[in-house]
Amino acid sequence: MIRINDNYLKLKASYLFSDIAKRVSAFQQANPDRDIIRLGIGDVTRALPQACVEAFHKAVDEMASESTFRGYGPEQGYDFLREAIAANDFKARGADIHADEIFISDGAKCDTGNIQEIFAKDINIAIPDPVYPVYLDTNVMAGRTGAFKDGKYEGITYLNCTWDNGFNPELPQTPVDLIYLCFPNNPTGATITKAALKTWVDYAKDNKAIILYDAAYEAFITDDSLPRSIYEVEGARDVAIEFRSFSKTAGFTGTRCAFTVVPKSLMAYDADGGSHALHALWNRRHTTKFNGVSYPVQRATEAVYSEEGKIQVKQLVSDYLKNAALIRKEMSDLGYDLVGGDNSPYIWINGKTDSWEFFDTLLNKAGVVVTPGAGFGKCGEGYIRISSFNSYENVEKAMARIKAAL
Ligand code: MLT
Repeated sequence: MIRINDNYLKLKASYLFSDIAKRVSAFQQANPDRDIIRLGIGDVTRALPQACVEAFHKAVDEMASESTFRGYGPEQGYDFLREAIAANDFKARGADIHADEIFISDGAKCDTGNIQEIFAKDINIAIPDPVYPVYLDTNVMAGRTGAFKDGKYEGITYLNCTWDNGFNPELPQTPVDLIYLCFPNNPTGATITKAALKTWVDYAKDNKAIILYDAAYEAFITDDSLPRSIYEVEGARDVAIEFRSFSKTAGFTGTRCAFTVVPKSLMAYDADGGSHALHALWNRRHTTKFNGVSYPVQRATEAVYSEEGKIQVKQLVSDYLKNAALIRKEMSDLGYDLVGGDNSPYIWINGKTDSWEFFDTLLNKAGVVVTPGAGFGKCGEGYIRISSFNSYENVEKAMARIKAAL
């Protein structure tokens, strides 16, 4: 008799953003005349930067001629892109990361979800609460948790992120082996200083642990004193894997391109204490299960690092941050406590009420979609997340409607 992976039965019926999409679509069907403004899922709305579009077209033309056509590319990504990333995102900021430590992929969601495959099943994992659901759900699927009870999975060390700790979790009280961190944070928009990040790097070193550092939103950092990469912290090469994405940086949510950095000096251990390079393991996994991002997409991504590309990306990010500033101002004026939105596209708002109820109120009365904080974990209860990914006009309209509705 064929059997299922029982771990899937421990999961909530659907993924957070699918659940929200279903609710919104039911609302739209019941109210076909209502105009809905989406500030829920962090999906970008602005067109690709012109430099990327031009490079994309040129690469598609290359695919149209036999002399320049390309078939399978290297699974890890083309050197032209890996080198541009190493030079601009790391070396330029004093981080010692080499092109061959970068794995190009089709998304940080896939990579943060898949990375757990290279670790043992019985390790201790620390996961923030609230959290981007992918980290937790993929470990549930892999059988690293017990049942879901009182809003938490048994067997996980939760790192509570609350108003009182500024949404920066404290170090775990019991030793853990794998730590998920995300800064600027999704969903709270909180950031971390270099000094605070150093305490995590030191903890990982002392405990022979690994940090999985999701920096998908680093482009939104405006405060120059904040680290954009964990590798700006001394010693991080030996304890951290970093995930980056072009989705929010350059509007690639539909185009798909991201990367993961696995330094060659990063080691983990077998049951007998023998050490193994995680770079080799991830390379093995990547080459077995992934065939690379398409050539035109990698050329379009490379253009992010061109002179014009850099200017255009900066403009894109600053337009979304302008939306975020407006959301911050309007929600503060309405008397809500909030964080995020200054170095992040997300604003995390204490709604002072059940977060799904607040979600329903905003959808029904204002026609505005947000994300209920409870969907990100127990500590998210009472909060909502508003995303700044939309046009300024729509954000203005949404804020006016929310003001009128509340
Ligand atoms: C979010 O809204 O949290 C993100 O869009 C999800 C993602 O990037 O997968």
